[in-house]
Amino acid sequence: MGNVSIVVGAQWGDEGKGKWIDILARDVEIVARFQGGNNAGHTLYVDGQKVVLHQIPSGIFHEGKISALCSGVVVNPSQLLVEIKKVAAFVQLTPERLWLSARAHVISPWHIHLDSKTETEAAKPIGTTKRGIGPTYAEKANRTGIRLGDYINPIRRQAWYESLSHTTPKFAEHRKAHADQWQEFDQAAEALAPFVVDAEHMVRAQIKAGKRALLEGAQGALLDINHGTYPYVTSSETAAGGAFASLGFSPKSIDKIYGVAKAYVTRVGSGAFPTELKDKVGEHLATLGKEFGATTGRPRRCGWLDAVALRYSGAISGYDGLILNKMDILTGLDEIKVCVAYEHPVHGRIEEFPWDHEILSECKPIYKSFKGWTEELPQGGKISDMSANARAYVDGVEEILGYPVSMVGTGVNRQDALFR
Ligand code: IMP
Repeated sequence: MGNVSIVVGAQWGDEGKGKWIDILARDVEIVARFQGGNNAGHTLYVDGQKVVLHQIPSGIFHEGKISALCSGVVVNPSQLLVEIKKVAAFVQLTPERLWLSARAHVISPWHIHLDSKTETEAAKPIGTTKRGIGPTYAEKANRTGIRLGDYINPIRRQAWYESLSHTTPKFAEHRKAHADQWQEFDQAAEALAPFVVDAEHMVRAQIKAGKRALLEGAQGALLDINHGTYPYVTSSETAAGGAFASLGFSPKSIDKIYGVAKAYVTRVGSGAFPTELKDKVGEHLATLGKEFGATTGRPRRCGWLDAVALRYSGAISGYDGLILNKMDILTGLDEIKVCVAYEHPVHGRIEEFPWDHEILSECKPIYKSFKGWTEELPQGGKISDMSANARAYVDGVEEILGYPVSMVGTGVNRQDALFR
């Protein structure tokens, strides 16, 4: 058995991974984030105070543990500095505890500009966070990007400016027109330099020495660039496989893989969403679940739990167990539904999540219904401590999915967690 676990989002992001990574970080020495950038927003409550992290792994609040950003991440330098200061108000944050991969690509003001422009001009916008994520990954793939290790070196940074200005005159114009943004970008390089290391080598060495690591994903499996609802996806590998590629290590070291799902579904941005609710129940979920984006403040679309999507998500990441989060938000509803299959006007009943976004957008949900509950869910303890109807719901979900529900979230705080 290995000493590395992976936690990923099982739906379209915002499942509440941050809270669970914070909980599971108690049992490991290293928490490493493997993809995404500051498009993510992980909300946690530390000593009763709400803290939103966008780039630093959520395990950072455990004194003495190491947090790493691996090669598959994209970094916004000035935003990362803001976050470092925010965290330092709670815990000591030194380069010994925060390792930034020299291989991670850097989001610059130019990439943010491109993301905004593309979204604004697109006939069918993706609904991105406009944080420059897509253009940074595109430049990485195009081999014209800049990595953190090169960015903190003023000579290499200058060389990157010159080479991009040479091929892209609009880049040079942007640098002139937004000198303030580029000055901030330059200044952040010096401040971040002490944290930039060969993070992958260092994490691998720790794992080899027997230390335990938790690899943290951002966004969710259905936003995966390969397996998600393309083109309405993010630009990185959000499923568990992305962790191996980003850290560069053997899947044989893996102990457990967990997917985090809400007990319902939310989605921000555009794209098909078969179980979306635009009625009173949808309002209930949005209001009680405080479903507004942690990064952009956008309202999230809400709907019933979609087991077709979750079975697929389990298949592409190989979950040992599902963490069913925010179950308390369902309390008080008379009836609770779970989508078990789709009905398509041409293809009939569909049980496999379709690769084709157009087909998915034409699917109607086929539901199984569960009785609701009004009793408050326990804050801490075992899943079996819940009232009968709540237990029947979890058992029913497990049966429909075909893999175990290992943990249940019943509130925003660290202690609001039930285990098998
Ligand atoms: P991007 O990652 O900003 O390029 O946005 C691409 C798609 O992913 C859009 O639909 C975003 O709303 C979605 N997305 C990106 N990050 C998150 C996240 O952390 N939670 C939920 N959706 C996200």
